[in-house]
Amino acid sequence: MQVDFREVRIPDDHEQLAEFLCNDEWPFHGQRKLTSADIAAMEFSTTNVATFWVIADGRAVGLVRLLDLADIGDGAPLFDLRIGSAYRSRGFGLRAVRWLVDYLFTTYPELHRTEANTRHDNTAMQRILTAAGFTQEGRLRDAWKSDDGKWCDTLIYGILRSDVRN
Ligand SMILES: CC(C)(COP(=O)(O)OP(=O)(O)OC[C@H]1O[C@@H](n2cnc3c(N)ncnc32)[C@H](O)[C@@H]1OP(=O)(O)O)[C@@H](O)C(=O)NCCC(=O)NCCS
Repeated sequence: MQVDFREVRIPDDHEQLAEFLCNDEWPFHGQRKLTSADIAAMEFSTTNVATFWVIADGRAVGLVRLLDLADIGDGAPLFDLRIGSAYRSRGFGLRAVRWLVDYLFTTYPELHRTEANTRHDNTAMQRILTAAGFTQEGRLRDAWKSDDGKWCDTLIYGILRSDVRN
C-alpha cells in the first residue's frame, strides 16, 4: 500500500487535527482522551515541532510529531506517534518510525542521535523500535503515570546516526 507523509500546516489543518485526535483514544499516552482545549495547547508547527500526517491511499491514518527540533545539534529529538485505532496493527507504525528516522538524519546533518520513550506495557511500540534499529538504553521505574493513576515504567530507546549507516 502506498504510504506518504505530508507536513501539517497550521491553521489550515487545525480542524482535521482536532477531529483525528479528539475522536479517538490513546491508551498509552498520559491522557487517553484529548479535548479541543488540549489540541489548542499543543504545538504542531513551530521552530521546535514539526508534524506529519501518515497518509495511506489518500487517507490520514496517523500522525507523527517530531519534538525538540530547536536544539537539534546538541540534543536528541523525541517523537509522538499516533496511529488511529481503526488502522492499528497493519504495519503503519513501523513504516512511520522508519520514515521519521530517515527524515531526521537526512534533514539535519548535524543530528547525532534520536530518542524514543515508551511505556513498559506498549509491546507494539517496543517491537517497532527494535525493528527500526533502536536500542533499549534504560528503564525508569514508575516514571509514567497513566490515565487511570497507575504508575508505569518508562523504557528509553535511542538510535545513533552510525546505527543507521551500519
Ligand atoms: C503503538 C502504535 C504506534 C503501533 O503502530 P501499529 O501500526 O499499530 O503497529 P504495526 O502494525 O506497525 O506493528 C508493529 C509490531 O507490533 C506488533 N503489534 C501490533 N499491534 C500490537 C498489539 N496490540 N499488541 C502487541 N503487539 C502488537 C506487530 O505484530 C508488529 O510486530 P512484528 O513485526 O514483530 O510482528 C499504534 O498502535 C498506536 O498509535 N497506538 C496508540 C498510540 C501509541 O501508543 N503511540 C506510541 C506512544 S510511545
